[in-house]
Amino acid sequence: MGRISLSQYLIEQERAGAQVPPELGLLIEVVGRACKAISAAVSKGDLEGVLGGAGTQNVQGETQKKLDVISNEILIQANEWGGYLSAMVSEEMEKPYQIPNRYPKGHYLLLFDPLDGSSNIDVNVSVGTIFSVLRCPEGVGDPDESSFLQPGAQQVAAGFAVYGPSTLLVLTVGRGAAGFTLDREVGSFKLTRERIVIPEETSEFAINMSNMRNWRAPIRRYIDECLAGKSGVRERDFNMRWVASMVADVYRILSRGGVFMYPSDLKYKSGRLRLMYEANPMAFIVEQAGGAATDGARRIMDIQPEALHQRVGVVLGSKHEVERIARYHAG
Ligand code: F6P
Ligand code: MN
Repeated sequence: MGRISLSQYLIEQERAGAQVPPELGLLIEVVGRACKAISAAVSKGDLEGVLGGAGTQNVQGETQKKLDVISNEILIQANEWGGYLSAMVSEEMEKPYQIPNRYPKGHYLLLFDPLDGSSNIDVNVSVGTIFSVLRCPEGVGDPDESSFLQPGAQQVAAGFAVYGPSTLLVLTVGRGAAGFTLDREVGSFKLTRERIVIPEETSEFAINMSNMRNWRAPIRRYIDECLAGKSGVRERDFNMRWVASMVADVYRILSRGGVFMYPSDLKYKSGRLRLMYEANPMAFIVEQAGGAATDGARRIMDIQPEALHQRVGVVLGSKHEVERIARYHAG
């Protein structure tokens, strides 16, 4: 018997009790299709001149790469006509993108980071796409920024793609997290990890160590204890990994456990990653895989957003480690 396709998975999730009405199923399939197109664009590399800067900046003042702009366009064009969305928000656009009048509107809001890990694009290291789906508030016909400001716990679906040695899609519709691999010959995502479970214990951490001088005490303590290894309080050696693409670092954690941190510190006082289209979707997936996600003091998905492009400190991964780091913050 062949492997289950993304379409079949979505229908079976609905039958098993998840809330995946046809509109949402179509949305997820179209996002999957857009990820295939982005994967194809990313893989052209220098052949088609897609690498390098676009000569523009995004709303957070970061230099946009050509592939950031291309990926954003692909996601918008793929999703604007389908009739299931009321609006979209992207890391690459300051304001919500309104569905053009020539198309019908639907009940969902789509948020995305079109190409996560921008610093890795030009050096041929894995990058990816992160997305989050919310419901448009009841009675709102023309959603504005405030319609999007819902805590992560309200997400109805979330996922991310990794454009690496293989192209992967990780997805949750609230009944666990599943992983799909792109079968390039066939052109479709096939279910390859039916139920992702993050090991509770781990000996691996991911953090940008060059920020060490700016860390606050709880993070410093946790990493010091990891570095002390066997002879320290943790009584075992720890390993470190930092891909600098959140998608790849989080996928590693979904595969073999670990903890990923981009905490708020003295430089990034409110954190570095974006709450609505980076931290929330990853937190949803990680929790659905049995892990945890906190900003140190609060569960990420309980945070009430105040702005579309708001940043947040992030600590996520294996449950016991994340709880330990939260305890260090509380103490
Ligand atoms: O989107 C931001 C991001 O590219 C993440 O994917 C990644 O985890 C982080 O920034 C890398 O940060 P740094 O450049 O500090 O290593
Ligand atoms: Mn990103």
